[in-house]
Amino acid sequence: MRRKIVAGNWKMNTTPEQGVQLVKDVLKNLGHACTSVDYIVCPPYTHLSEVVKVTRGTAVQVGAQNCAEETKGAYTGEVSAEMIASLGVRYVILGHSERRQYYGETSATLNKRMTQVYANDMVPIYCVGETLDERESGKLWDVVKAQIEEVIFELSDEQYHRLVIAYEPVWAIGTGKVATADQAQEMHAFIRKTLAAKFKDAAAKTPILYGGSVKPDNAAEIFAKEDVDGGLIGGASLKAEDFLGIGKGFDAV
Ligand code: 13P
Repeated sequence: MRRKIVAGNWKMNTTPEQGVQLVKDVLKNLGHACTSVDYIVCPPYTHLSEVVKVTRGTAVQVGAQNCAEETKGAYTGEVSAEMIASLGVRYVILGHSERRQYYGETSATLNKRMTQVYANDMVPIYCVGETLDERESGKLWDVVKAQIEEVIFELSDEQYHRLVIAYEPVWAIGTGKVATADQAQEMHAFIRKTLAAKFKDAAAKTPILYGGSVKPDNAAEIFAKEDVDGGLIGGASLKAEDFLGIGKGFDAV
């Protein structure tokens, strides 16, 4: 059985005070939500310390949205994986399409970040996904395959066991255009097959999350698909009620 995960990527939203309130609201209402789901919140760096403190000993775990590719030193403005891990953070999102698009992240830079995350005993949530052009021109399979092969295939078997993948079609992020449950399943199955080519049976154990305009009213249908193990949620993770409502999508499965 694969773990079911609902992860919130807050992106560059909320002040630390608002973020702490948001996570408190999530915790307050979690009792009513499905307990078989692992909840993860990924606030901006500035809130990590406080959010870890508030969530300690609860069912909510904390992730960062990125980390530096270098270990330490003269890299103004960067935050290292060691710094993040030292706070008690468990996950790091890597390769989000916004990082690839706006900050020039490539497989080469992501390989270095992966190394940092594993060296500090955290778990990467590695994002893949195609643009609308790539989907419409039929290149989606090659694009996603390359994103997996160039980064995930560099991992050792031991590292591979601590990995979450998120499929986030770029055209569905923040647009309100959600992939259909069948489109998500088709790509998730393809990702799992690609992973199995290298990691064999272990691929069956890797959680693959769907991300892109997931809301409480469309989560259940997507999560019902065999290879969809949860969601990476942007906008809807900024409201405790919606975030937990998405987790309830698993009740219907
Ligand atoms: P939205 O849920 O706002 O579409 O964002 C998805 C996302 O990018 C999560 O990482």
